[in-house]
Amino acid sequence: MHFQWYPGHMTKAKRMMQENIKLIDLVIELVDARVPMSSRNPEIDELGKNKARLILLNKSDLAEDRWNDAWAEYFKAKGFSVVKVNSKKGGGIKSIQGVIQEACKEKIERDRKRGILNRPVRAMVVGIPNVGKSTFINALAGKACTKTGNKPGVTKGKQWIRLNKNVELLDTPGILWPKFEDQTVGLRLAFIGSIKDEILQKEELALDMIGFLQKNYAGVLAEKYGIDESGDAFTCLKNIAESRHCLVRGNELDTDKAAMLFIDDFRNGRLGKLTLEFPQDYD
Ligand code: G4P
Repeated sequence: MHFQWYPGHMTKAKRMMQENIKLIDLVIELVDARVPMSSRNPEIDELGKNKARLILLNKSDLAEDRWNDAWAEYFKAKGFSVVKVNSKKGGGIKSIQGVIQEACKEKIERDRKRGILNRPVRAMVVGIPNVGKSTFINALAGKACTKTGNKPGVTKGKQWIRLNKNVELLDTPGILWPKFEDQTVGLRLAFIGSIKDEILQKEELALDMIGFLQKNYAGVLAEKYGIDESGDAFTCLKNIAESRHCLVRGNELDTDKAAMLFIDDFRNGRLGKLTLEFPQDYD
């Protein structure tokens, strides 16, 4: 499968990021807990150097708990603060404010030594499309937030959300461009729905995912669809089509439809908690 990205979007996203990152003390980077590496863009490390760094394993409700823990350890060992969150349901959100203070303690101490007291930490949320940035900002800011900046009659500037007296959050998240450094990364981003469906061949995607599940999560397909999952990936897909009555005229199996249904089941967590990449495969 060949993946494309649009250089125009990429250039604009990068320019925005470079501008906004100058204004902040802390980068809050959201990754998808199911694919924590493929959903990062490694350039954020260069862009965010000299900033405090917090990684959120978002959508942790859709990934396997033991791997969430293993990934948290992996990133902590690299010097990041890490929190597992479920932005949709609010899981892990309460601990964030404390973690932000902890992640920025060097900056707060530097300020204190220079006589700057009570200057709030300024933070920005970043991540690739669909990773949950807006959901997270809403969950964190809730209803109690006050917007600062952009007062009537004042030149249009950045909007900051005051979370409390110690923390302000830039209200527009930074969009990181996905990085298709190889086929596997592209496939994983497609699985989680970060690549637009129109440019995907659903059946090929489904076959790849079936292969992955057969290897890493034996029994999941059999249990979910009540099928024999021991054959090759295409046989499995046909079995899914049969079990879910995906048929085209003449009662032929509609594997395209089955592929869509299967991918949708995965994306929405109906196949259970599944992690698609593991820390031991990275340095
Ligand atoms: P973005 O700003 O990074 O582009 O992402 P956005 O917040 O729009 O979230 C993308 C999708 O991911 C949304 O689903 C959102 O509900 C879902 N999402 C965000 N965080 C979590 C999480 O922690 N767990 C789960 N399970 N889902 C999460 P959607 O299908 O676009 O909308 P909806 O069905 O929720 O209305």
